[in-house]
Amino acid sequence: MSNTALKVGAFDASTTTEPADLEFARALLAGLRSPEKSIPCRFLYDRRGSELFEAITELPEYYPTRTETAILETCAADIRDATPTGSLLVEFGSGSSTKTEILLSALDRLKGYVAIDISPSALQTAKLRLSARFPSLDIFPVAGDFSRGLELPIEFAPIPKIGFFPGSTIGNLVPDDAAALLANMGRILGEGSRLIVGADLRKDHDILLAAYNDAQGVTAEFNLNILARANRDLSAKFDLEKFEHSATYDSENGRIDMSLVSIVDQVVPVLGYEISFAKGEAIHTEHSHKYDIEGFQGLARRAGWTPKRVWTDSEALFSIHELHRPPIQD
Ligand code: SAH
Ligand code: AVI
Repeated sequence: MSNTALKVGAFDASTTTEPADLEFARALLAGLRSPEKSIPCRFLYDRRGSELFEAITELPEYYPTRTETAILETCAADIRDATPTGSLLVEFGSGSSTKTEILLSALDRLKGYVAIDISPSALQTAKLRLSARFPSLDIFPVAGDFSRGLELPIEFAPIPKIGFFPGSTIGNLVPDDAAALLANMGRILGEGSRLIVGADLRKDHDILLAAYNDAQGVTAEFNLNILARANRDLSAKFDLEKFEHSATYDSENGRIDMSLVSIVDQVVPVLGYEISFAKGEAIHTEHSHKYDIEGFQGLARRAGWTPKRVWTDSEALFSIHELHRPPIQD
């Protein structure tokens, strides 16, 4: 199968159907004109946001990336054993595809690798690196929103698929949306497929708070970049000195809530509107849900998946779940 054959519609990274700025403009205005201000977290990932996320993954306080990587090193051979020869690996929110290299090395007879991400720059960088390391692998970058009904090209229909959704990106959706996304992944991957999902585990709140309030302030910069992006791409007039990063733990919902808090009363021009902020008012930017193993498996069942194996680390910080999509019974 050649890359050329698959340059169709939304599946070519260079031909995204919706201009990213227009989408951002719509979401920004809708979120800032609501009584409870918010900006959807997918807009954290422009070129600079993707770079900052990579910097977060290397922070001493941010345990998820190194922990999930270590778990993957131990379970990659188990995953290989359950993967039919000639499968297509489909990754959702692939980012730098760094962890993917562990699977690509283990799953040696793949048909190809589909990398889906909202950040075209992250896809581009990952493709260059992976093409050099795995020269015979067909790589299909897809720039798009995985929660918006993406479909794989019809040519992929007969190929067995294994889905990969690492990073605990599933935690960035509220549970109803997370279940809907997992169900949609089931439709994309098809009957009999498997999905490998990383889910961050509930734990001591101090560990969580430190991971989202790092001493070097990289998470704060990642968060504030969403306002910097509005200034850069939409000529908004946010003064970044007048907002501060906040990440708190909501134990009732088992999640980190990330927001940007206005430190003064202020009015910010955004796309022709005057947006007022009271001192202390927040713009919500991200939820990061933490699951226990049974809670995540319940979510997967709601979405039509059958939970299979679970791998975790010795400190029970992070979990990797294997889910199976049973064939539909007549
Ligand atoms: N999988 C990588 C990156 C996780 S960061 C890892 O495990 O380290 C989350 C990634 O998901 C980012 O690369 C971001 O650009 C992407 N992303 C976030 N929301 C998205 C959406 N709605 N559709 C597609 N990609 C999304
Ligand atoms: C991508 N996602 C799972 C990260 C998380 O931990 O929720 C994004 C992030 N936000 C702040 N730090 C990292």
